[in-house]
Formats: sequence, structure tokens, C-alpha cells
Amino acid sequence: MPATALASDDSPEDERHSTASPESINQVHVEVQDGVPMYQITRLGEPVVEPSPLGFLLEDAPDLDGPFAITEVETSTFDETWEQVWGEKQFIRNHYNEMRIHLTEQEDPERDLVVTFRVYDDGVGFRYEFPEQEGLEEFRIADELTEFRLTGDHASWYIDAYQWNRFEYYFENTPLSEADTVHTPLTMRTEDDLYISMHEAALVDFSTMTLERTGENTLKSNLMPWSEGDRVRVTDTRVSPWRTFQLADTPGDLITSYLILNLNEPNKLEDTSWIKPAKYNGIWWEMHLDKSTWNRGERLGATTENAKRYIDFAAEHGLDHVLVEGWNEGWDEAWYESGVVFSFTESIPEFDLEEVAQYALDNDVRLMGHHETSASVLHYEDQMHDAFALYEDLGVRAVKTGYVGHGTEIVRYDEDGNEHNEWHHGQFMVNHHLDVIELAAEHQIALNVHEGVKSTGLRRTYPNMMTSEVAKGREYDAWGDAGGNPPDHTATLPFTRNLAGPFDFTPGMVDLHFDEYRPDNRIKSTLAKELALYITIFSPLHMVADLPENYEEQPEAFQFIKDVPTDWYDTKVLNASIGNYITMVRKERGGDDWYLGSITDENGRVLSAPLHFLDADTRYVAEIYRDGTDAHWDHTPYDMVTEERLVDHTTELTLRLAASGGQVIRFRPATDEDIERLE
Ligand code: NOJ
Repeated sequence: MPATALASDDSPEDERHSTASPESINQVHVEVQDGVPMYQITRLGEPVVEPSPLGFLLEDAPDLDGPFAITEVETSTFDETWEQVWGEKQFIRNHYNEMRIHLTEQEDPERDLVVTFRVYDDGVGFRYEFPEQEGLEEFRIADELTEFRLTGDHASWYIDAYQWNRFEYYFENTPLSEADTVHTPLTMRTEDDLYISMHEAALVDFSTMTLERTGENTLKSNLMPWSEGDRVRVTDTRVSPWRTFQLADTPGDLITSYLILNLNEPNKLEDTSWIKPAKYNGIWWEMHLDKSTWNRGERLGATTENAKRYIDFAAEHGLDHVLVEGWNEGWDEAWYESGVVFSFTESIPEFDLEEVAQYALDNDVRLMGHHETSASVLHYEDQMHDAFALYEDLGVRAVKTGYVGHGTEIVRYDEDGNEHNEWHHGQFMVNHHLDVIELAAEHQIALNVHEGVKSTGLRRTYPNMMTSEVAKGREYDAWGDAGGNPPDHTATLPFTRNLAGPFDFTPGMVDLHFDEYRPDNRIKSTLAKELALYITIFSPLHMVADLPENYEEQPEAFQFIKDVPTDWYDTKVLNASIGNYITMVRKERGGDDWYLGSITDENGRVLSAPLHFLDADTRYVAEIYRDGTDAHWDHTPYDMVTEERLVDHTTELTLRLAASGGQVIRFRPATDEDIERLE
């Protein structure tokens, strides 16, 4: 159905303008009330967002808060299927109806503001455009007035914004009325079981949007400010990021909504042949366990010899990159306190960078670079051109970056030389991260960003922006106060953090207790659940994070880790409940195999998995890795059974998951020999 403007373009001032999604599931309505532009979102005619205001307060120009009139309405339809360079689904349909509302001030200086709505069957996105015009050349946004007047006190999952540890908190689950100012994605469930994810798409040259609760069920955009108090400095980029609502009848449908990617610009990189989904291991977990250290000394992790040991292991088992942390000068200082310590080109004497990089290439593996900036961003910017050039020369194709440092620790100087402290997620850092993405692309290097800004789908435009952490990740299992991540953390992530984009959670643990090194901590999963994280957490770069020697103890589990791809043709969710459980299946790209991953929180459960996604004409071998009868994360986490059976698309499997347990299954087309063996 084409988009429809309910008013003629000649006299749109007093009218209400509406457009609906292609299948008429979601609708947007816009009108001006007392000079204030108001938008409303409905789904099948029922309100999701009540009429809510739009506009801005400015610092050095009159506010953009009306009185406005609608002076033009443009509508259009778009329908295209595009291909992801890598991802959770290869071909994505981008089908929406668009309504561009032109607003004109009814008083001096009579400036124009445009708001574009894109209405999809799986949600709505809208953004502001600031046309270049007199009185609106360069300006500073003091506040964004966009409100989101929700219809009830929805069950909500979120992390609080403006905290010292950035995004590294467990998700809270409360009624909306208990939230204060939160990061996005904010996930909600209404009383009628509508699932909502609020987020933003294409965060470019703007400040991160957080959501502040300003009324009972009302949220307002709260942009992370510059240290001087203004929120956004508008110069060349004349559009805001998209404010997004993903709307779904099941929590699983939030996961298979690609609205955030669809609202980003298409790929800008001409040659993407060098960007490869991959698995990596590295000198990393041993430091978090405190078996070895980043700093030099007897227990230094980053030695040439140790790196070669990891490379040998990667080569033997088909892993693509080997990460080495602690390789460069600076770690001997209290780097996490002051920060201006690192060299990004000088390796320590114990680590021969050239030799290790060449040894990796000789073994058909690549070194993964590491830039821990310790949030000394200007210091990093001074060196990063040389640093990426060096890595390119050494054949490195992926770099992990890090920005360890408290929330406002980022130092910047203004034009008068005054020092300022910026938030990790304000416009200054948003711009820094995009500069790094572009620089890395010039050097044919993919990124894995820790402590960065939240993902907003930029991976579509820059597919070398492959994965990031920006959440509580694996390292908290080693040294977090809670003694390890609680069992429901990984059962919450697919519906919250992962909705933003790929997550470098670093799965693959097969040694779940490490009493020798960290007796107070452990991994609160069964072995089978650990395997399932490769499916339930999407990342095109997944780590095989445990120590090489530990995989020798668990050859069966390791076989699955070696088999599982990190790039997919398709993804489906078979069952899901936020914070409780999820079962997903993904089909490998360029092949016939499907992989199932199922996990649960601290409660054991029995779930049903109908296999109707399988090809109807094919019989498959299901290679099953399941919790054993006695499995329990707390006392018997290694109890795992592997078995094979024949299945087809009519089979309905019963998955029995232990407390904090899981299951994985690889489905591969059966050979005649398999059929004979297993029938
Ligand atoms: C924090 C990162 O998340 C972690 O992966 C890394 O090992 C340390 N910083 C040191 O860079």
C-alpha cells in the first residue's frame, strides 16, 4: 500500500497527517497543536505513543520550539532488499512508507525544520533535519524536546545512564515508573504483551540519546552534554540520528527486526573483500585470571614465545586471529589511572612484534592488534595514524581497541587551551569513534571496540566496524564483585544489549572454575550453555576465549566451538522470554547447516523446538550437545551428553535445560551412511 497524505499539500497547516506501514500495522500521525508539532504512534489503531512534542532549545540562536505550522508534507514508499557484507541475516528487506513534515516558524526568524518519519511493519524511526538557512548556520543544541509519552507503566529492562562505569552494569527489570534516566536500548513489555525497544540509529556527529523519565509514563530525549553544558554542536551534519521504536508481538521478533540497520546508510566501503567474519583466541583470559600480567615481570603474558604458542594452537584448530594484549610500552605504569602512557607503535623488549606477526602469517593466522587507550583519546589520536599503518604493514586485519576510564574522564582542550572532561558517550567521543572507523578502513582493518559508544547500526555503512563490548562482558566472570555474572545475565542480553548490535562477549569457556587463580569467582553456566552463547550472542568476530590447555580437557565441547560459524544466512527465534530463556537457530552462510542454541537462567526448563525451519526435502543429522540428567550450573556444570539422531522438518525436539544450562545442535544434511548408521 502506498503512503497516503491525509491532507493536500496546498493547505496542510491545520491538518493531522498520517501514514501507515506497508501492511498497515503501524501508523504515525503528526499535527501542530498550539504551535507545537506533535507526533503519535499507533499499532493496529491502538496508541503506542500518545501525542508527544518535537523541537529543540538552542544556545546561541532562538529556540526551535515553535510556534510552527506544517508547510509541506512529502510522502513516499521504499522497498529494497540489500545484502549484508556479513551478519545475522544475509538479505534484508527495507520496506517502509515515509512522511517528511516541513515545519516553518510562524514568527521571526521563520526558520524551517524538517522531521522525517519512516514507518515499517516492525516499527518506526524519525529524525530531524536542519536545513541550511539564515539564522541556522552553525548552532548549539541546549536540549532536545522530543518526548515519548508512553501508554502505561510498562515492564522495562534498562541500565541507568550517567554512571561512572559507562555501560558496564547488569540490566535492571522494573516498572517504567522506577526508571530515572536510562541508556538505550530500552526494552519494554506492555500489559497487552506488546514488546517495544527504544533506541537510536545512525548516531553520527551528535550526542548519545539517553531517556529521562519526566512524567509518569513519559520519557524525554536527554542528550549527553559537552562539558560546557551544551548538548550538540551542529555544523556540517544537518540531521539527527533516528529515534527508533521496534514493535513486536513476541520478544523474539525484536531480535529479528532489522529496523536499526535499515535506517543506516548503505555500505560506503568500496572494497569489502578483506572483511572476514572470524574466530580468534589470544593472550587475554590468562591476564584476567591473573595467571599472567599485562605489565612486565616474571608473569608477563605478552612474550614472543607465549604468542607463538597461541598461534600454533590457532593454526592447528582453524582459528583466524590471535589477540595479544600487553604487547606495547605503557602497561608498567598505572595506566588505568593517569593514562597518557601508551605507545601504540613500540613493543616491549620481550615481545618481538614483527617476528610474531610474521609467524602468524606463516601459519595462515593473523595477529589481532590491541590499542588500549585508557581513555587518553588525544594521546591516541596523536599516534593512531602511525599505529594503524604499522599494523597494516604487518598484515593485521583486525584491531581491538579499549577506552578504560571513568565516565567523564576523556580530556579535551578548547581553542583557548582550557582542559575539559568529556563523557564517553558525548558528541566528542561519537566523532572520535567514527574517525577511528574511517581510519581503520583506510588501512583495511576491522574493529572490535571495548568501552566505546553503544552500537546504532553503523556496521551497515562501515562493515569494518565489526563488533564491540559496551556492556558487562566476560571479564566480570573472572573478577566481578558478584563472583561471576549471574545466570540470568546472558538470558537478558539478547533482548537488550544485543538489540543494538554485535557483542564481543568472548564465549567459549570450558574451564568453569579457576580456583587456582580466582577462587571467589567462577562461570555460572553449564558447559552446554557456554557453547550456546555462540548462537544466542551474535558477533562476526567471536573469541575462543579459554586457555589453550583447557580445550585439550574438553575435546567434544571444543569440536562444536571449531564447527560453529560466525556469519549467517538467516536467524530465527523458536521461543523466548526476556531474562528467562531463549532458543535461536541460525543457518550458516554459503552452506546447508543450521545451528541451534538454547539457554536458560537459574531455572531449569523443558522447551519445545519444532524443526519446521529445516529444508522439507532433506533429512538431517542432529549433532546434539545437551545438559546431562544431573547437570546443574552450581554443582555439576560439566555434565554434558553428546549424541546424534536423524531429524527432519516435521520433528519436534524437546530441549531439557538444567539450571543455568543450555543446549546446542548442529543440523547437517545426512549422508546415506548416516541414515544407515542412525536409523
Ligand atoms: C577492558 C577490556 O574490556 C578488556 O577486554 C581488556 O582486556 C582490558 N580492558 C585491557 O585493555
